[in-house]
Order: sequence, then C-alpha cells, then structure tokens
Amino acid sequence: MGDSVQDRIRSFDHHDPAVAPTIHTTLAELREAHPVARSDAYDGFYLVTKQDDIVAVAKDGQTFSAAVQGLGAVTMVPDAETTRAPLFESDPPVHSAWRKILHDYFTPPAVRAHEQFIRQVTDRVVDELAPRGGCEVVGDLAAHIPSLVIAEVMGVPLERQDELAALTRNLVVPPSGPDAPRPGDGLVEFLRDEIAERRDREDQHDVLTAIVHAEVDGRPATDAELLKYAFLMISAGFLTTVDTISSLMLQLARDPGTRRGVAEDRALLPALIEEAVRHESAVAATGRTVLAETTLRGVALQPGDRLLLAWGSGCRDEQYVDDPDAFRLDRQRRGRDLGWGAGVHRCLGMHLARLELGIVFDKVLTTIGEFEVAPGTEPTRTYGVLRGVRNLHLTWPTGADTSAG
Ligand code: HEM
Repeated sequence: MGDSVQDRIRSFDHHDPAVAPTIHTTLAELREAHPVARSDAYDGFYLVTKQDDIVAVAKDGQTFSAAVQGLGAVTMVPDAETTRAPLFESDPPVHSAWRKILHDYFTPPAVRAHEQFIRQVTDRVVDELAPRGGCEVVGDLAAHIPSLVIAEVMGVPLERQDELAALTRNLVVPPSGPDAPRPGDGLVEFLRDEIAERRDREDQHDVLTAIVHAEVDGRPATDAELLKYAFLMISAGFLTTVDTISSLMLQLARDPGTRRGVAEDRALLPALIEEAVRHESAVAATGRTVLAETTLRGVALQPGDRLLLAWGSGCRDEQYVDDPDAFRLDRQRRGRDLGWGAGVHRCLGMHLARLELGIVFDKVLTTIGEFEVAPGTEPTRTYGVLRGVRNLHLTWPTGADTSAG
C-alpha cells in the first residue's frame, strides 16, 4: 500500500482543487502509511497528518517557525513572501508580546460586547432569506455575517463597513462578467487607508489600532507588516467563519436527525459547533519552517525545510477519535480539539467564532428550520490552507411550513 500512497503524495498540492473531494481518504492513508510525507510541490514540503506530531511541532516554537514562504494563500499583499506579519508569523518571545497586546480584544467578555451587533446582522440576513425558500449559502448567507463582524472588530467606521464587507465577500464569491474586479481588488487599498487613518489617532479601541501604535522588539511594525497583518486578520476572522457556516449548513442539510435534534434542544448548540470545527476544520493546513536540525517520527529535517500541519487530519486521527468520519454530538473527547490549533498560535478568535456560529445556527434553525440541498445541484468542496464549500444551493419550505422539527 505504501508505494502508491507515496507516489501520490509526491505530487500532492494542497491548493489543487482536484485533491478536495477525496482529501479525507488521502489523509487517512497518510496517517497510516506516511504520517510525515514528503511532497515535491512548491519546491518540497512535508505534510504532517498525525495528531501527536502536529501538536509537537506547534508547541515547539524554538525549532519550528510560523514564518513560512510559499505554502500559504496570501498572494495579494505586495511583498507577501518577504514580509512577516505581526502575531501570525512571529515566534516566541516576540510572538507573546504581540499576543499580549491583542489578548484583551478576544476574551469572552470582550467578544460579548459584539453580541448585539452580530444578532442584528444575523436577523437581518436570515429574515430576508427565509421567505425566498432557498439560497446559495456562501454568497447569500455565510459571507454576509462574518464580513460585517470582522469590519466591526477591526474598528472600521460604520459608514465604511458595507464597503469592506463587499470587498471581502468578493474573496469567496468572485464577481463575474468581463469587467468584474478580480478577488482582492480594492481590498489592499482599503486596508492601507484604514492603517493610515489610525496613525494619526490613538483614541480608537480595535485590533488594527492596537497593532499600528504598538512597539515590539524595540520598533513599530512597518507598513508592509501592518498590511499583511490586516489581511491575515481578515482571513482568520472572515474566511474561516464563512467556511465553517457553509460546511455545517451542508452537513445539516444532509443530516436531518442532527438538524432536528439541535432544533428541539438548543443546549446542543455548543456541541454542534465543536463537532463542526472538528469534522471539517476550516483552517485545514498551515505551515511551519524548520529552524534547527531535528527529526519528526524518524524523518530527518534540516533548517529551512517546510512543514504543512494538517489540522483537519489531526482532528480525524483514529488514535484519538472513534469513528472519525462520522458527525456526532455525543463525543467523549480523548485527544485535543485541533480545529482551533495548538501551542502559542492557537486560535485567538475562538470565543468570537463560537459566539458568531451559535447566533447564526440558532437563528437559522428557528427561522428556516428544515432545508435540503437543492435537487440537481452539487456543492463543490474546497481544500488548501482553508477547507470549505462553494456553490451550495439549498431549498426549504416557506410560509406555514417553516417551523423547525
Ligand atoms: C470557526 C472558525 C475558526 C477556526 C476553525 C479557526 C482556527 C484557527 C487555527 C487552527 C489557528 C492556528 C493556526 C496556526 O497555528 O497556524 C488559528 C489562529 C488564529 N485565529 Fe482562528 N479560527 C477561527 C475563527 C477565528 C476568528 C473569528 C478570529 C477573529 C478575528 C480568529 C483569529 C485568529 C488569530 C488572530 C489567529 C492567530 C493567533 C496567533 O498567531 O497567535 N480566528 N485559528
């Protein structure tokens, strides 16, 4: 078995759409036969698929750096490959200084301050959709809510929030037509303006202003670093949540037992969200660079080698998760909830994400209730740094039939 898996992994490209439909089978084979597998794509990297190895790497910031060239998805920011974003791509001890500056914005009480805003946006979007009897989930539902929430968290003034939301939505639902802007067009300029705006004022309390005015390691961040940070904050806060909403809507559309169970007992909502993050981890795979000679599961690694930590694979590692491909709300956890990462870079926004997802699914189950994949349509799974769904057309009964259950 080993050889054929090894052959396939040699050309494995996580950004290739062709790997997405069968990714969980591929990752399961790799966990068994080649847990630290070499691919020749992107000038070579190692795909790490077992939970223990992913955690060991993520927790060892001395040997493995979060600054990685060539494996990520940030291509729109100028000088992306040569710039290290504060926080995301920094290593200890500098990383902990950035993390400390941002910590207060992401605590459970801090994110609860956004609750009313999130509820208002969610109510508006779902109330408008419900009578339609169907929608394309990514463009009509999922992208509308986190785009406005991340604008709010980044301190974008109310009058510019819709503009940022539209620019970020273009990342997941690219506009079509001959004169349509490319995904990302306008976003870099928008973020540059927001950064410049904050240089002259310190009275705002948000996750962009805090980084613009901070000095870490004896200096403020450069313009290029700030831009990459802002772009990554949008990816972290927006794309992840869009993908989780979409994957979970697909799951619930195909799994009426779970859907009705949660509709009848909202105390199951937290378990629904944690299982969604485990089952189709939106942050599928992120990179690390080897800083010092070491071995991982017997594989010799040299400084400069790159690893791709397959978080979604760690979440389905049979060593820790029984029946890992099943979607179940009654799991007794033995391993770690790797969908949120591990080590010092573990998700800073998880309380915000949980709040957002809880509000969205509570509302969807109350107002739309029953739904299914529209007959004759087939959603497209995506894989790469992020895992999600596109072209997800759902349909539901309207009028007197919209109650859950
Ligand atoms: C369901 C949604 C989400 C999932 C599954 C998720 C998952 C993750 C994972 C796996 C990491 C670690 C990446 C690594 O170590 O390479 C991470 C980091 C991060 N996430 Fe999330 N995330 C989600 C939503 C959010 C939201 C809403 C925010 C808020 C803006 C956010 C902010 C961050 C930040 C700032 C980091 C970097 C932390 C650091 O480098 O210290 N995330 N996330």
